[in-house]
Amino acid sequence: MITKQKLEIKNYKKIAVTPRFCYFQPKAELKSTIAQEISYSLSQKNKFIHPKFFYDEAGSDLFEKICSLPEYYLTRTEIEILSSIKSELSKYLVGDYALVELGSGSSIKTRKLLKVLTTKQNDVEYYPIDISNILKDSSINLHDEYDNLKITGIIDQYETGLEFIRQLDHKEKLVAFLGSSLGNFDPENGIEFLKKIRFSMRKGDLFLLGIDLVKDAKILENAYDDSSGVTAEFNLNLLSRINRELDATFDHDKFEHVAIFNKRQKRIEMYLKSKVKHQVFVSAINLLLKFKKGELIHTEYSYKYTIPQIKKMAQKTGFKPVQIWKDKKNYFAVVLFSVYGI
Ligand code: AVI
Repeated sequence: MITKQKLEIKNYKKIAVTPRFCYFQPKAELKSTIAQEISYSLSQKNKFIHPKFFYDEAGSDLFEKICSLPEYYLTRTEIEILSSIKSELSKYLVGDYALVELGSGSSIKTRKLLKVLTTKQNDVEYYPIDISNILKDSSINLHDEYDNLKITGIIDQYETGLEFIRQLDHKEKLVAFLGSSLGNFDPENGIEFLKKIRFSMRKGDLFLLGIDLVKDAKILENAYDDSSGVTAEFNLNLLSRINRELDATFDHDKFEHVAIFNKRQKRIEMYLKSKVKHQVFVSAINLLLKFKKGELIHTEYSYKYTIPQIKKMAQKTGFKPVQIWKDKKNYFAVVLFSVYGI
């Protein structure tokens, strides 16, 4: 058995902030891939920018704003569900559970889960995994709020964090992947990612997934093209980031935000559409980009699921749905899974 004390990952350094809070970080600074990736993705016939580039500081702030927009029902509905299931969820957590969370930004949701665990257990171990340094701030806030909380953060990609989590076998784990972030994977990669989560877990562990459901196209399109223009700003911020980090000449006024629901694929598609024929130069990678009027840069897919699809996905990845909670309007689902051998 590997105990918590023996946890280690090669090429990581451990930073102990307080006796109850430490985090692991890759020893070598991750070399920025933005130049290589943008150079490739904007040179394609169908131009695209990977959605991970949304989340620089300004983008992360804008995403926070999106989460409280009236049209963006996702966050509010998920919080509503989590608030209403606390005592039911508690019944499934028999024994001592450590909380593992993929993503650490949404502390309101984390607090809902911690509330369940800290009331039943003397000590609670919390393992947030997040690529962003935001993890440090959100963890320190939680650390100050709960005396019986021990936090071990992993600042890295989910995949690496999950390898680390796999070593934890001194108690059961509740692994949470909330916010419908699974929707930003295409279905094939989503399945692969769920398999990785499953591989990091053992019998007795539980997996909690928050996922957005298929619904009326207008409701979905409004959620991704809000009346105050925050999502448009979030999308256009990609261009500011490339201007700043790669010394490019993108002009916001020459692009517009587009969000459409593709009913067949069950996904919101986000694009930046060139309003006029024009050129942009990206100095850092010596790239001249030519845009036709109406040309699209694809920036994000946000897949929406149905309950049968969720069940099918679970079957393919070694998970068994134990309980499915939805809001009254059936907009969003929070699903608790147990694990079985694949
Ligand atoms: C992070 N992710 C789940 C959000 C979503 O709803 O797909 C990202 C987002 N894009 C535009 N609005 C929100």
